[in-house]
Amino acid sequence: MVRVGVIGTGMIGQDHIRRMTQVLAGVRVAAVTDVDASVAAAVAEKVGATAHATGEDLVADPEVDAIVVCSWGPTHEQYVLASIAAGKPVFCEKPLATTQEACLRIVEAEVAHGSRLVQVGYMRRYDAAYRALKKVVDSGELGAPLMMHCAHRNASVPPHYTKDMAITDTAVHEIDMVRWMFGEEIAAARVLVPRRSANGGELQDPLFLVLEMASGALVDVEISVNIRYGYDIRGEVVGESGTAALGELSPISVRAAGRFATPVPLDWRERFLAAYDVEFQEWIASIAGGGAPVGPSAWDGYAAAVVSDAAVAALDSGDRVAVVLAEKPKLYLEATS
Ligand SMILES: NC(=O)c1ccc[n+]([C@@H]2O[C@H](COP(=O)([O-])OP(=O)(O)OC[C@H]3O[C@@H](n4cnc5c(N)ncnc54)[C@H](O)[C@@H]3O)[C@@H](O)[C@H]2O)c1
Repeated sequence: MVRVGVIGTGMIGQDHIRRMTQVLAGVRVAAVTDVDASVAAAVAEKVGATAHATGEDLVADPEVDAIVVCSWGPTHEQYVLASIAAGKPVFCEKPLATTQEACLRIVEAEVAHGSRLVQVGYMRRYDAAYRALKKVVDSGELGAPLMMHCAHRNASVPPHYTKDMAITDTAVHEIDMVRWMFGEEIAAARVLVPRRSANGGELQDPLFLVLEMASGALVDVEISVNIRYGYDIRGEVVGESGTAALGELSPISVRAAGRFATPVPLDWRERFLAAYDVEFQEWIASIAGGGAPVGPSAWDGYAAAVVSDAAVAALDSGDRVAVVLAEKPKLYLEATS
């Protein structure tokens, strides 16, 4: 039984606590904390966990074997570093940290520790449709992958959503996914700016992100965040002699009133619900009995941050911006799942 401590009991923190208490096996939520102590206390009571005053207290708790960080992005670095210092596995919701420098500090701390402790919450890698797509790409059936067309469409975004967040919050999931799908780094980014949707008000929406892979393969990502009709994630890999695309995911189709219709998910919770379950179950299985995580690594979190920075610079300048990564430490040479 892995005893987990959760830092940050907001929206996703509470969802992961529900998952670990009601859905998954081999795990128990032993402790929680939040800067809003009343929320932490209420959640702790509901699941029979200890409520700690600070994240550091939670990390130090001998009843906590592993940590899940679900607090706001700018606080991730301090809790991930504290977990590494304590030698405890830590699952950190994305982003690993909010700057590439902070991500690199985490990479360096983990390398100094000498084995993997960190996993980052890029859950697309656990989605059944993406996994099936990667299996086809890896089989060689399509020939070498040359291009990938992606779309990331949100029905709407909150008022505080800014232009940069289309890259750093939204397309960052595609940034991680294509590094994994193609098994290589991203070399450069460009952003094209189409005609603006009136649905987004002052926000520049949509955006068209183009990623150059190290092999020369090209990936385009349409980012539309006020598309109204639902949450729609699309992806098609074009190989030398075939193509493969994420399928329609609805378990039902309706023929009525002269139309053939399948429902579109309302939001990301609905679309990726099962992926989060698989992500956590595999993380728990990997660390049970003192093992190391095998999912998205601190290096993956760092690379996503560097590519995001390059894409934001490309958006601001209109230019092609090269991605410059630090030398990859040996610890991360094995592909992550
Ligand atoms: N993988 C995904 O698809 C996905 C989806 C949603 C959110 N996230 C990530 O999860 C994180 C949390 O997002 P959310 O939507 O749950 O936000 P939220 O605002 O609902 O919850 C965050 C919680 O963290 C608490 N908190 C803030 N600073 C803290 C600190 N220093 N110590 C302890 N608690 C602290 C807040 O009080 C709040 O309760 C973000 O990094 C977000 O990007 C990832």
